Amino acid sequence: MNEDKIIKGFDPIIMKRLVSYLKPYRMQTIVASAALIVLILSELLVPVIIQYSIDNHILAETVSVSGLRTDSIMLMILLAGGLAASFVQVYLMSVAGQGIMKTLRVELLEHTAGQSLAFLGGTPVGSLVTRITNDVETISELFSTVIMTLIKNLLVMAGVIGVLFYLNVNLGLVTLLTLPPAMIITLIFRGRARTAYRRVREKISAVNSFLSEHISGMKVVQVFAREAAVQALFDRRNSELLTADFSEMYVFAVFRPLISFLSTFSLAAVIYFGAGLNTRGTVTLGVLIAFLDLVRKFFRPLQQISEQFTIMQSAIAGGERVFDLLDTEDRIPDCGGACTDLDSDAGIDLCFDDVRFSYKDGEPVLRGVSFEVAAGETIAIVGYTGSGKTTIANLAARFWDADEGRILFAGLDSRKLPLALLRRTVQAVQQDVFLFSGTIRDNIALGRDFSDEQLLAAAETSCLKPVLDRLDTGLDHELSEGGTNLSGGQRQLIAFTRVIAHDPPVLILDEATASIDTETEKLIQAGLHNLLRDRTAIVIAHRLSTIRDADRILVLGSGRIIESGTHTELLELKGFYSNLYNLQFGLSAD
Ligand SMILES: Nc1ncnc2c1ncn2[C@@H]1O[C@H](COP(=O)(O)OP(=O)(O)OP(=O)(O)O)[C@@H](O)[C@H]1O
Ligand SMILES: [Mg+2]
Repeated sequence: MNEDKIIKGFDPIIMKRLVSYLKPYRMQTIVASAALIVLILSELLVPVIIQYSIDNHILAETVSVSGLRTDSIMLMILLAGGLAASFVQVYLMSVAGQGIMKTLRVELLEHTAGQSLAFLGGTPVGSLVTRITNDVETISELFSTVIMTLIKNLLVMAGVIGVLFYLNVNLGLVTLLTLPPAMIITLIFRGRARTAYRRVREKISAVNSFLSEHISGMKVVQVFAREAAVQALFDRRNSELLTADFSEMYVFAVFRPLISFLSTFSLAAVIYFGAGLNTRGTVTLGVLIAFLDLVRKFFRPLQQISEQFTIMQSAIAGGERVFDLLDTEDRIPDCGGACTDLDSDAGIDLCFDDVRFSYKDGEPVLRGVSFEVAAGETIAIVGYTGSGKTTIANLAARFWDADEGRILFAGLDSRKLPLALLRRTVQAVQQDVFLFSGTIRDNIALGRDFSDEQLLAAAETSCLKPVLDRLDTGLDHELSEGGTNLSGGQRQLIAFTRVIAHDPPVLILDEATASIDTETEKLIQAGLHNLLRDRTAIVIAHRLSTIRDADRILVLGSGRIIESGTHTELLELKGFYSNLYNLQFGLSAD
């Protein structure tokens, strides 16, 4: 994804699509726009009324007290109206901005969750998280503040010029003398500010990704005592960020005073020429004073406008990245259709029919794998590391689709089963159990409704019960992120309980290789035994006990099944299996 694009020129297609998110907030936008007009009018009318009041009621032959009273009341109404309008506008647009942020986040997560593992595995998590947080936030800022203030600033500047010329053409021309240099400075500044802004953003993202990677990998850093080296690397990234921050501040530090200077210069020019015109009687004092106010009102938006353009451009770039993600469709194709259960009373049999598969073209992992698992049967798959065992599990659960060949459940091609039905029929326990932060209960139920009795019965079957009994809070025990406050074995038992509670007819188990204390090992063996009972199961086995307990063992080598049979049969064969067995368990075959 175009990570490097931090600022983008104005892109009408993306802008149009962004603005379409305002649709549900049409009323708010209309009211806010009306409020904006009131706000602009109040800004522009105040100097006009002051001028009128001075020239017609203060400097008149006789001071008109009633006229002055009317003027003050009008000024107060205008100021109060402006204040109220400003509140209404800011409030409504913030509501819209926050609402759009929520909509986009939900949309992004929903979309991402449906994508295939091939896509998710190939996209850095950091970049997905940045889409859903930072980019969405910049877009929300665009709606809540930037668009409206940008429009307001442009209109106020145009309005001020209009009023200047309405009040006095000559003095208006004098004021606008400074306009060309102001424009040139603003243009130069915009270029510089964009570069500086982009650099700061790049450095911030470098610091963030460095932090997230190294905090997750801190264990490795500590094991190899690399803290000082990591510190030095971080120091460098941080210094680069500091330099970038400084140059951004420098750009602003030069720009703001320059515009201030021009504004003051304009004021001086207005006073100088205005006083001259005043003595000649062509400019009234009221007009002169109104001009002083208007000049200030012209230069203030000028200071903000380039900053707002930059934010708008970065929101457009963020929008492009968000839409890129939303437009990426890489799902496992779902044939849909009615989701009636397969007849699983007698169990469901499973068949791999000449399955071929490669993650990358030209690097086949499976080169024609065929086997059958009868209903209720447990088969174990063994093979060297990298031989494709987990790949078989991924294909059976349809996280990936085979390139060639078929995978059949109860005689039906898995590609012709509705995905929802397939996911209910086949469940996998992964090599590394993933636990979410939350309670043990949440982690077993995963959002489905189970009674306490059901959960405890499942825990009993999976042998998690003794672990729960030792915890004060039992099922309500809070797990830390990733379940790190549990041992590897305890995490396995929770994964078993999950499967027993959800009760799929077909189970794919990628056994964990982590070593486990003998007590938990015994629990796991017993739990596993119960888990596999009455279920069609493929077990990628690493434990001797699991391999021996299987009804049949398949040996995977060079992308094919090269041997199959029971433990004793295979040992007698004195082939690949007996070799592997001797290597792995250091036991003699006899
Ligand atoms: N997501 C992936 N993208 C590309 N190649 C992959 C991917 N996953 C695995 N592979 C490759 O496919 C081959 C088989 O991997 P697989 O994970 O199936 O091995 P395994 O038999 O489960 O190994 P282990 O016993 O170590 O778990 C390996 O050579 C691996 O490099
Ligand atoms: Mg594996």
